[in-house]
Amino acid sequence: MERITLHTQNTTYQIGINEKGFLLHLYYGPRTEADMSNLMTYCFRCGHGNPYDYGIDRTFSCDFSPQEYSCYGSGDYRNHAIRVRDAQGVAGADLRYKSHRFVDGKYTIPGLPASYGDAKTCEITLEDPRLNLEVVLKYGVFYAEDIITRCVEVKNNGTDDLYLNKVMSASFDFVTGQYDLIHFYGRHFNEMNFERTFVGHEAISIGSRRGVSGHQHNPFAILCDRDAGEEFGSCYGMSLMYSGNYVIQAEQDQYSQTRFQAGISDEMLDYLLPGGESFHAPEVIMTYSSEGLGKLSRNYHRFIRNNVCRGKYQHTRRPILVNNWEATYFDFTGDKLLEISAEAAKLGIEMFVLDDGWFGNRGCLDCEPVDGNIGDDRGLGDWFVNEEKMGGPISNIVEKVNAMGLKFGLWIEPEMVNENSKLYQAHPDWALQIPGKKPVLGRNQLVLDYTRDEVIDGIFDQITKVVDSANIEYIKMDMNRSICEAYSAAAGHQNFGEITYKYVLGVYKFLDKLLARYPDLLIEGCSSGGARYDAGMMYYTPQIWTSDNSDAIERLNIQCSASYGYPVSVVGSHVSAVPNHQNGRITDIDTRGMVAMSGNFGYELDLTKLSQEEKDKIKAQIVRFKADWDIIHNGDYYRVTPGGENREFVAWNMVSQDRKQALLNLVTTNTHGNPLVIYGKCKGLDKDTLYRCRETGEVFSGAVLMHIGVPMPMVFAEYVAFQYHFDAI
Ligand code: DGJ
Repeated sequence: MERITLHTQNTTYQIGINEKGFLLHLYYGPRTEADMSNLMTYCFRCGHGNPYDYGIDRTFSCDFSPQEYSCYGSGDYRNHAIRVRDAQGVAGADLRYKSHRFVDGKYTIPGLPASYGDAKTCEITLEDPRLNLEVVLKYGVFYAEDIITRCVEVKNNGTDDLYLNKVMSASFDFVTGQYDLIHFYGRHFNEMNFERTFVGHEAISIGSRRGVSGHQHNPFAILCDRDAGEEFGSCYGMSLMYSGNYVIQAEQDQYSQTRFQAGISDEMLDYLLPGGESFHAPEVIMTYSSEGLGKLSRNYHRFIRNNVCRGKYQHTRRPILVNNWEATYFDFTGDKLLEISAEAAKLGIEMFVLDDGWFGNRGCLDCEPVDGNIGDDRGLGDWFVNEEKMGGPISNIVEKVNAMGLKFGLWIEPEMVNENSKLYQAHPDWALQIPGKKPVLGRNQLVLDYTRDEVIDGIFDQITKVVDSANIEYIKMDMNRSICEAYSAAAGHQNFGEITYKYVLGVYKFLDKLLARYPDLLIEGCSSGGARYDAGMMYYTPQIWTSDNSDAIERLNIQCSASYGYPVSVVGSHVSAVPNHQNGRITDIDTRGMVAMSGNFGYELDLTKLSQEEKDKIKAQIVRFKADWDIIHNGDYYRVTPGGENREFVAWNMVSQDRKQALLNLVTTNTHGNPLVIYGKCKGLDKDTLYRCRETGEVFSGAVLMHIGVPMPMVFAEYVAFQYHFDAI
């Protein structure tokens, strides 16, 4: 059998082309030079569809042979990867191998984010001449990183329309093994809960139908051996570089073979592909680890940091910021912002970020509260400065903040419009809504039709006028509701799947334009916290506000789960006030500081209301964070207490690339009378090296630190944080 083999440093991926041109998935796993077509079996099996050209031979069926890109119409009744309908409404294709080639460099995807770097591309073209259809499977091979990416281009080479009802980005089958699927579910204020589910003989499917990748399931999942743990076992990851509706699924078929796939959601997808045009399915970033979940995560950390994120701040420390949202909500004036900035400057904070409420009639101080919020029912779409509230043009404030030695950042929510806005009055058709149907509102707002260039340009022009008017070096780009009515007045139809796909491309177009105009701009992504925490957004926004829940203890869980697929360098994490505004919990400022430091560090509270002791602690935190930044952001990250466990404490550590330094972080999450001693272990050290603990002066061998750990002092308090540095001697 002809084979196509992709090697990375430690992994091999092999695809077979059988004698009739069917593309078979032969292998993905530890690196090997072997011919894996030997793993194929040809059993006589009844009860399956056999391709016509096999005649009376019943030893091959797409229904039980491992497929590389399963097609509806081939007789494969499992979850297929692609389903195409012709202009007459008939679904079913017969995709066979046409050609393949290797190209130096990494493919790009028109309109969609794609990882980049030192890679090779393999393109495999499948065709169905009857439909004039070509499907190009693209693989990006990152050798040193142990990463393989996939995406798909579907080409209509004929003149008749085709309709795409399903186009997965990646799909493959395992002929043997029993697996768990690890995924991360959640809700607003409570993102990223670890769940590990056995993949039995039914499809397990996670995804989003909200137009954004969503709080409810993160678009990243791991398929692993049933006994895989942090340091052992086979694990496969799929991380979707896409910020809209998606699906990731796994199932065992009737022969206990497992299929794993990811791509945009096929629900209500009916994508018109006219003759001569192409459709692009987004990228999936895949990795394989034979050394457990920890290694798999570190593969993703390095890759997202180096090959997905971009821009001036990709590898440099981001400014330590104070954001006024939890400090003031809408209740601020220009003077109040300056008071917070002045305090921030004294403490060593480096940037002030002005959140929601600075524009149009948004959050006007004399409007009636709605659900406790003043004026969040208005203003979105009107991106001009509310000079009355701010006490003058934004440049006045920015100049003063800059004069204090701080950079200035600004919040926007460019995809949204309130009915109570000048924009909506002028262009009601710019909102996605179904004629004659009262729209579903989310936070009193509607979603703008980002499938239309004039809408994107209109918002872009407004926002760039503000950014041009002052020294704005940072944007927090928010998105606070999901899409319900996917009716575009310009397209004149509701095709939920097509509109929501084109909408996401519109958002990427907006971000591309923004970065083209301001290449040094640092953009923080946000979608009510973590509703768009995905590798697609990370291409544009190298940091994302991980959750609107800023409680240090709940953040332990959220940030631990995020670490399975994403590096610390993308985590937006702030110290907020106590009692915490989301759950009322009281934690010490040391604990809040330590947890927030495992991310892009900042503060989100009214600094003018703090005691001198708290201010002194903040000053010290800032000094410490700056000193530790390199190991925190660039070090290898280890979960000492994995996700999903009922934990008495949560611990994680970072190790410098040369293994000469380690930073152990540990927070207690429970208290007891006459408690047991907690030993804080480190991972990833050199077992034969001696390390001195900077805080206690004690010396431990790497072996002991990894095997037993260091005893933590007993403290009579809740939620105590310990941070220990270890230096090789
Ligand atoms: C939701 C974000 O997650 C918050 O941080 C804040 O920016 C608000 N939106 C403002 O409306």
